[in-house]
Amino acid sequence: MADVLWINGRFTTTDEPVISVEDRGFQFGDAVYEVFKFTGHRPAFLSEHFHRLGQGLKELEISNPWGDERAFATTMASLLERTACDDGIVYIQVTRGTAPRAHFYPDGLAPTAVAYSRAFRFPDAAKKERGIKAITTRDLRWHQCQIKSVNLLGNALAKKKAQRAGVDEALLIDDGFVREGASASFFVVRGGRVVTHPLDEHILPGVVRDRTIDLALRARIRVDERPLREAELWDAGEAFITSTTMGVMPVTEIDGRLVGNGRCGEITGELQKAFDALEKASAAR
Ligand code: PDD
Repeated sequence: MADVLWINGRFTTTDEPVISVEDRGFQFGDAVYEVFKFTGHRPAFLSEHFHRLGQGLKELEISNPWGDERAFATTMASLLERTACDDGIVYIQVTRGTAPRAHFYPDGLAPTAVAYSRAFRFPDAAKKERGIKAITTRDLRWHQCQIKSVNLLGNALAKKKAQRAGVDEALLIDDGFVREGASASFFVVRGGRVVTHPLDEHILPGVVRDRTIDLALRARIRVDERPLREAELWDAGEAFITSTTMGVMPVTEIDGRLVGNGRCGEITGELQKAFDALEKASAAR
């Protein structure tokens, strides 16, 4: 079944071909995207997603098709009203626009903006308790990972490698450091302290990452935002990833080695519960 699609101010469905072959998103990956979750037709953390989208557009000098958060929220509410399923994700992409193919882009192009909703099977209670396994692999991405650009080839290759190894996620290693997952932020717990990579050009500023750090601090759990050496993976007591689609998800095995006792850790479980409650409250607003 086709999904509801919003493009440049009008509604259609994902059956309609709407993108020109000369769209710069297609030709150059000259675009940013966002993914947010909705439950009961209500978006979670919409403001945080709009903020990150705005940051990426600003850094790339692509004009923001919504201008302000209110206009964005109105579009997303109309999209969710037209959406058949109660729970799922909305995928948004904003490209610099369409122009005859040339590396030099004309200034002031009208951006192409699309948003569509889709049903999504979020992890159930058993999966959240069981957690996921991961492999490590080289980080092949570009040097501006704080921008949520559509250039996801490095991520896609890493994910495929994980799938072939029979696991869910790939941890990206660069210069001896664990940057993040191919589609999630990454944390370990060492000596009762939560450790995650600091915000810089090596990682995406994850919306769930930010909320989880806040929840940890409120629970008086110490948080170190510092680069994590690959070697520190092997004696971590707990590990978990965070993302819009997975929430807080334990990582119980890395490269075939158990993390801690191979079960969801105590701090991970506490943060997972706290995050689920916060997400529910955000979607209820
Ligand atoms: N991925 N890091 C990377 C590389 C990601 O692709 C994602 C999310 C995250 C977590 O960000 P957030 O907490 O804002 O979802 C971190 C989304 C879900 C995706 O590409 O589908």
